[in-house]
Order: sequence, then C-alpha cells, then structure tokens
Amino acid sequence: MSKLWKKYILWFAQEHVDFRLAEFESLSKLFGFKFQHLSDQFLKPFWLVEFPNDETALQFASRSVALRAIFELYAHGQTLHAFHERLRNHVESHPAKVEAHFGANTSFKITVETYNKHFSQREKIDKIETMNYLPLSGPVDLKHPKVEWWYIEFWGLDPTAVPPVPDDILFGRLLAAGQRHLIKDLSLKHRKFIGNTSMDAQLSLLMANQALVAPGDLVFDPFVGTGSLLVSAAKFGGYVMGADIDYMMLHARCRPSRITQKVREKDESIRSNLKQYGCADRYMDVVVADFSNPLWHPRVSFDSIITDPPYGIREATEKVETKVTVKEGTRNSDMAHYPSTSHYALQQLYADLLDFASKHLRIGGRLVCWLPFHREDYSEATLPQHRNLQLVANSEQLLTGQTARRLLTYEKCSQTEPSDWSVPPLHVATPSEDFRDRYFNNCVESRQDRRMRKAEHREQGRLEMQRRGKVPSDSRAKKCDLNKSRFD
Ligand SMILES: C[S@@+](CC[C@H](N)C(=O)[O-])C[C@H]1O[C@@H](n2cnc3c(N)ncnc32)[C@H](O)[C@@H]1O
Repeated sequence: MSKLWKKYILWFAQEHVDFRLAEFESLSKLFGFKFQHLSDQFLKPFWLVEFPNDETALQFASRSVALRAIFELYAHGQTLHAFHERLRNHVESHPAKVEAHFGANTSFKITVETYNKHFSQREKIDKIETMNYLPLSGPVDLKHPKVEWWYIEFWGLDPTAVPPVPDDILFGRLLAAGQRHLIKDLSLKHRKFIGNTSMDAQLSLLMANQALVAPGDLVFDPFVGTGSLLVSAAKFGGYVMGADIDYMMLHARCRPSRITQKVREKDESIRSNLKQYGCADRYMDVVVADFSNPLWHPRVSFDSIITDPPYGIREATEKVETKVTVKEGTRNSDMAHYPSTSHYALQQLYADLLDFASKHLRIGGRLVCWLPFHREDYSEATLPQHRNLQLVANSEQLLTGQTARRLLTYEKCSQTEPSDWSVPPLHVATPSEDFRDRYFNNCVESRQDRRMRKAEHREQGRLEMQRRGKVPSDSRAKKCDLNKSRFD
C-alpha cells in the first residue's frame, strides 16, 4: 500500500512558525486526509511528507495559509553527490513521469530557490546546468510553462552561521501554491471597517483553519469587535454571527483608527466588510450583549466559536452589573436603573468562555481563542480546562519581550445535558494574577517614567548638538528649553 504513496515537498513561509503543524493537523482532520512520514524538523521551511495521491496534496494547498507551495518530490539529498545520484535514478526508474512531464511538447521552466544564502543569476544558471542529465526536451517558457521545476537549496536557519555546504538539496515539480494570496486580498489596509483591535488577515485565516470552518457552518464570535475573525470564517464558507458589549464599536460609531480618517463613513460596518469580500450572503447578524450574562437559548448550537477576548490592554474587560449585584449604599429601590459596569477578570472570562463552548458547540465543534500571558508564568497546567473540551492545539505568538499569547484550540468531546448545566464544570482557571494588572504594574514603565526617559533622551541629543556646534531650529529650540527646564 505504502509503495503507491507519493512524496511531496511542503514549502512554508518562515512566519508564525509555531502555527504550521497545528494548521497541517487541522486541515488533515477537515478534509479527512491521511499522511505519513512527515519530517520532524518543524522549524525548517521545507518539509517532506507522503500523501496517497496528488488530490490530497491539492486539498491541503487549497486551504493552507502557512504554505507557500507544494511540489511533487523527485529527489532529496543532504550532499550534492547524493542528491544528483538520487535525481538521476528517480528519472531513470520512472519512464511514465518522463513521458508526461519531460516530453517535446511540454514547455518548462526551472526555478532555483536558495534559503539563507544569496546567489547571483549566473550562479543559479550554473546550478541548473549541473542537472544536464535530465531528459528535458520541450521548449523553455518562462511566462506560461506547462511544468515548473524547482531546485531548492536549504542553507540552515541562522543567517549568522551559514554552513559551508547546503544542509538539504531538493528537486520537485510544482503542484500548487498555498492560500497566502488571501493575506493580501483580506488585508486590513484596504478593509472598509477596521479598529484598533482588528486581527490581521493572516492570523484570522489561521484561526478559521484551526476551527475547521467548512461551507455552511455556523460560526460565532462572542467578542466580535470589528468582526475581523468573521471575515476569514465567511471567506471559507461559514455563516457568521457575533456579539460585543460595545455598541459604538459593533456599529462602527467609535473613533476611526486610521490616522488619515477624521470621521467614520456612514456605510462602515461588519456587514459591508463581508460585502467587500463577496461574502455578504454569509452575514447572519451581530448583537450587543455582555458575555458574562447568558443570552442564548440552550438549543442554540454552533459549529465553531472563534474569538479574541479582551485582555484589558487596548480595550476594557468589562461586564454589566445587575440590580442584584449593585454596590451597597449607592441607590434607592425607587431609582431608575442605569446599569453600571465592573471589571471582568480574565480568569472568570475564560471560565465563562469554556463553559459557553461546552454548552453551545456541537460535538466535534471547535473553540479557537487567544490567551495572553507573561512568558515566565506559562506552564501547560495553567491553561483553562473543561471536562467537555479537549485541548487539541496550542501555538505561541510573541507580543513583547515578556508577554505572549497562545492560540488555543479546543474540541468538544462530550456533552452535558441542559438539565445538568447547574453542576459546576471541572475547569481550572488561568494564572491567578490578572494579566492586565501585571502588564501595567510590573512590565511596562508608567507614562510618567516614559515621558521622563524620552525627555532625558532629547536632552542628551541637545547636549550632543551643542558639543558639535549646531544651532537647533526654532521649534526644536522650544522643545529643548522645555527639556532643560525639566532637568534644571
Ligand atoms: C480584542 S477585542 C476583539 C477584536 C475583534 N476580534 C476585532 O476584530 O475587532 C475584544 C472585544 O471584546 C469586547 N468586550 C469586552 N468586554 C466584553 C463583554 N463583557 N462582553 C462582550 N464583549 C466584550 C470589546 O468591546 C472588544 O470589542
């Protein structure tokens, strides 16, 4: 059986490296495809894998955002000698391939790709000429070739320690490109409605892949903001809906985040974003709702929940207080009730999120969410857990030196009947200390400190200018005087 399988080269973009394997495994589950002998050096941009056929390879390429391109492998070697020997043998022992791809009527092009080392055009041509034993008999066509051959040299990952010879040499036939064009197509730069919290296109596409969004799925984002996660889910065929506590944000009435824009345009909305990308028919609706107050009927069931909850850094983590929990001594019973808000602790928020997912996901449905943390605090034991949800992927994205966030993917594996919903679930909350408090108190300097540091920096610049005998311009002189007065 295994003899019929074919070998492929997967070429990944060297970006969000920690997300590749999770995406690969998710897509394997989404399409139900099998693979074997996957290379285990996941940091490298070139992986080798065996698929049963080209259709499987094309399925993977049809959804992968991490993938640059996929090639049918002809030869792989770790020395030039071994590589050429294998390539020659492969061609000689596969006459059917030679007939199909090397024939006189098959135009071709050979591309030389080198990773971590630059080669001139001349040097690249020399590399092509080392393969003069290939029975290529068709015409060269650099613009629209029928077959594209790729010769790849991998010279390690460290630009400061390039090895004397390449680590891997590969040769293959291009089968398909991945879906990286979507990153540009859905770029926030040209999106109608964005805000400070909009997720960049690449990460939101990766999230939709983690959530296994398939055409016809019902996808929900309970902290929807500007709806950037709905865009990618709708692009993959999901019917999307969202909720947010902030009416102004949800309906694009908040301050514009583009520096060139003074006021919001009338037609800015999540719906118009979907329309912009040709997915207007997949917009269900959005509602203003506080996530801490359960809103949904027990029978409501989603195929996936993708969300980026508030961390309290760029946006508040708030919940609405009810009459029952109102602070003592602040109101009389006959007063009209204007709901106040209070801090929604991250621990509670994630506990609520997992609980919500356990109730409103179908079995097999996925919750994909970000969790921020301080890197020194991280341990798997601190991740939120729930008895009905299984953690199936966990990828890290660095934010600042000390902070990072993890994209967690949970799959609903069992069901609690609505009659048992009052039984507390077995979840362990996130780290005890609040991310926001620690972010502002421990890690980042206060505004005052920052102002002083910058002023000190400018003052040093002024002294340096003075030493060099330069006269500062008018406005610069004013700033310098201000700085001086701060330090004198
Ligand atoms: C990180 S942002 C989400 C950004 C979003 N993915 C986007 O594309 O803009 C978090 C959102 O959660 C909302 N939020 C904060 N507290 C909430 C609550 N208690 N219930 C529902 N939404 C809340 C905020 O208004 C904010 O829009």
